[in-house]
Amino acid sequence: MESEEMTEHGVDVVAIDGPSGSGKGTISRLLANKLGWHFLDSGALYRLVGLAARRHSINFDDEQGLATLAAHLDVEFVSDDEGNETRIFLEGEEVTDGIRSEDCGNDASKVAAVQSVRDALFERQRAFLHAPGLIADGRDMGTVVFPDARLKIFLTASLEERASRRYKQLKEKGMDANLSALLDELALRDERDRNRSAAPLVAAKDAVTIDTSDLGIEQVVAEVYALWQRVSD
Ligand code: DC
Repeated sequence: MESEEMTEHGVDVVAIDGPSGSGKGTISRLLANKLGWHFLDSGALYRLVGLAARRHSINFDDEQGLATLAAHLDVEFVSDDEGNETRIFLEGEEVTDGIRSEDCGNDASKVAAVQSVRDALFERQRAFLHAPGLIADGRDMGTVVFPDARLKIFLTASLEERASRRYKQLKEKGMDANLSALLDELALRDERDRNRSAAPLVAAKDAVTIDTSDLGIEQVVAEVYALWQRVSD
């Protein structure tokens, strides 16, 4: 049914999954720009559920409360005319930068382990599917949300490289960062994301894995773009 819908509307999907700091976000955005496609930052949705849970004092072990929150989440993604910058609003308040903190990432990883939260966000993610195409960035884009994506990429990088990228990103945003704390947090988050029973972080069987540890952003974008051209010919 899902694949029929996708081909019916002629909407192609490139699924880009991988752990934090693998370069997914940056590469997905650049690729969406290059192709003139829509972009789904699914991690932002889990970050927003975590933030909303804190704001509404919903406990992270209250599965029903989290699922209800996720189902009714009042969020807005606002893109500029070129589709470059996306501003994110939660219940009318801008949280674009706020949700990028490590605390929010950790909260996101916790709520993301709850199956009913994932179920509640499923249709919301599918709703990003619009012509001419969608770049979907996350952990389970190729395995669960868009299993019929025409191209599936799994990006990896060493833990050290990912922590150091995260460190630079946070510093650039003027946020507090500590490299060794980041290493520990990323390792813990990876373990939680990989070992959970609900849609664990794993490469789809038909995904192309790219290790980005020693590659520049432009090289990875060029490689994924070339793969896309090959499959779409
Ligand atoms: O990509 P990110 O760092 O913004 O994601 C934050 C957390 O959300 C991540 O630790 C795991 C979770 N997540 C998920 O489980 N499934 C997704 N499709 C995207 C993110």
